[in-house]
Amino acid sequence: MTKPTYYITTPIYYPSDNLHIGHAYCTTIADTLARYHRAKGEDVFFLTGSDEHGLKIQRKAMEQGVTPIEYVDKIIANFKLLWEKLHITNDDFIRTSEARHHKVVQDVLQQIFEQGDIYKKNYEGLYCVPCESYWLDRQVEDGKCPDCGRPVETMQEESYFFKLSKYQDRLLEHIEKNPEFIQPASRRNEMVNFIKQGLEDLCITRTTFDWGVPVPFDEKHVVYVWFDALLNYFTGIGYGADKELFNKFWPANLHLVGKEIVRFHTIIWPIMLMAMGQELPKQVYGHGWLVVEGDKMSKSKGNVIDPLGLIEEFGADSIRYFLLREINLGSDGNFSRDALITRINADLANDLGNLLNRTVSMIDKYHGGVMTNLTSEPLEDVDKDLLEMAKATVANYQTAMDKMEINAAIKDVWALISRTNKYIDETMPWILAKDEAKAARLQLVMYNLAEVLRIVAILVSPFIPTTSPKIYTQLGLAVPSEFLLADATWGGIPTGTKVAKADPIYPRIEVTEAGETVIGNVKKEAPKVATVPKAEEKASGDNGEISIDDFAKIDLRVATVVAAERVPKTDKLLKLLVKIGEEERTIVSGIAEHYEPEALIGRNVIVIANLKPAKLRGIESRGMLLAASDGEGNLVLADAPDIKSGSKVK
Ligand code: ME8
Ligand code: MG
Repeated sequence: MTKPTYYITTPIYYPSDNLHIGHAYCTTIADTLARYHRAKGEDVFFLTGSDEHGLKIQRKAMEQGVTPIEYVDKIIANFKLLWEKLHITNDDFIRTSEARHHKVVQDVLQQIFEQGDIYKKNYEGLYCVPCESYWLDRQVEDGKCPDCGRPVETMQEESYFFKLSKYQDRLLEHIEKNPEFIQPASRRNEMVNFIKQGLEDLCITRTTFDWGVPVPFDEKHVVYVWFDALLNYFTGIGYGADKELFNKFWPANLHLVGKEIVRFHTIIWPIMLMAMGQELPKQVYGHGWLVVEGDKMSKSKGNVIDPLGLIEEFGADSIRYFLLREINLGSDGNFSRDALITRINADLANDLGNLLNRTVSMIDKYHGGVMTNLTSEPLEDVDKDLLEMAKATVANYQTAMDKMEINAAIKDVWALISRTNKYIDETMPWILAKDEAKAARLQLVMYNLAEVLRIVAILVSPFIPTTSPKIYTQLGLAVPSEFLLADATWGGIPTGTKVAKADPIYPRIEVTEAGETVIGNVKKEAPKVATVPKAEEKASGDNGEISIDDFAKIDLRVATVVAAERVPKTDKLLKLLVKIGEEERTIVSGIAEHYEPEALIGRNVIVIANLKPAKLRGIESRGMLLAASDGEGNLVLADAPDIKSGSKVK
């Protein structure tokens, strides 16, 4: 049986600059859809690339004293780096400067020219260079481009024109007969109104610059960038070069584009296709724009967000999750750092991260890590409820994803995660564990928890693709080469599977008063001066409690401070030399705002002596001071003035 195919594309972005979070947003959505369709078992082709020609790029290169290709090569390397860091699974990357693309553009132009849909005429018009677009007098207000608001220039050239008008009625008919062709519906109405005003023939060649594809029948001209760019969707799947590949994937299932370029994709591109005698893509979806803290991104405002920096700071999956969860695909959305951190902490660290951590820790503690699928054990109502919800979630998720309602699909999965966390509170495994007669029940409860997590791992794999393998690994399951929805049915974990060591997959992010973000329990700037480190707390308990044995693992000692100084270029850190009995150690502590270094010398404090060493500002810190903090700026060191250095604190 041949698999269904799915061909999805992003816009090919201009390499006039490095990409920002808005481009990353569109590509993340496309990648998520590509991964989802692969998970359904479809044969997917996912294309992205770069739109390299045109006056704007040529001017930029000139300003820098380099050739256009030298200029774009550098930026394209950054495009590719970004997609790699964001775990984008495009099957090809198309650059319009490539020979394979030039050939496609020239062949198509020649064909349309020969059949009489292209003609030559003298043209004068208002041109927006950044948008590479001519505008009519009636569209231009105060000499400004109606799209971007920048000044237009009068351009005059002898040009070739493409007969859009000839195909206008056929296009309208197609749009009206195929409501799914332009989505969301609001954009369809906009386009229909635009077409009904009457289409003007399109000027498709330029003589004012030469960084473009030469027109085969008149070498003084280069091809208009949009005519050139749209054909990338053909080049990417081998038009004219690999018939089999092309026939397999054309027509495309989805061109995902930003709302500002829906017009090019639903008017010019379909008419080019009609002129070529090709089928039209099944859908063009115009997604909304991302604004930053409520404001449109722009270089002059200095609020352009670099996705590489964010990935470096928070990790790719966290960024992907935020973009997919927070924004309704068809609407504009807001990017804010606070909202990002809130989402990561609430949904990833808390809901998903804790469920996994609690589950794996309990299985480890109660059953030596080994799971048993006890099908003979009767299900209680609470189990049935969980199982039914898991099943319904898989179905609802698919319905939502098929409609491209990505954030709705995510909400469904997180409702299941919350329900499962509640299942732990309801079944109270720590009580079951105390009762021999409940041994089988405890096994069943543990199995149910692990099974939900396995199914969740499959469902979230299109969104947060590096997280699913981590979940599988902690559950002791082999990571498949592809997560398939067909495996999201109950009972997939074989009896005898042994979980791995519990390890938090999403450390909590804290923001200090100074606005620094601290990820996980090891503070980068100021080490934590609290009691028990968080990882211990989580790894050992199902309900936050630790046993006396756990506590005994912490080696608390009285230490005497023998020297203290500020760590240069920090406000918070002190470097202390302490003596624990006869042993000398360096400890870096985040108490500089509360204690003058001199005041500490000679004091007997309490330290955690067996903490893993950590490097802070290049200084190896071995141990941690105990202190009480009310979180409102007051902090007092725990001390033991009359006890000999080296004494154990119990
Ligand atoms: O238009 N929010 O390239 P481009 C969300 N080369 N998405 C955004 C965004 C934002 N603030 N800013 C950009 C071009 N995008 C042409 C395309 S296709 C044959 C040629 C995304 O570099 C969005 O998808 O200006 C938008 O359509 C695209 O980047 C435009 O990228
Ligand atoms: Mg643009």
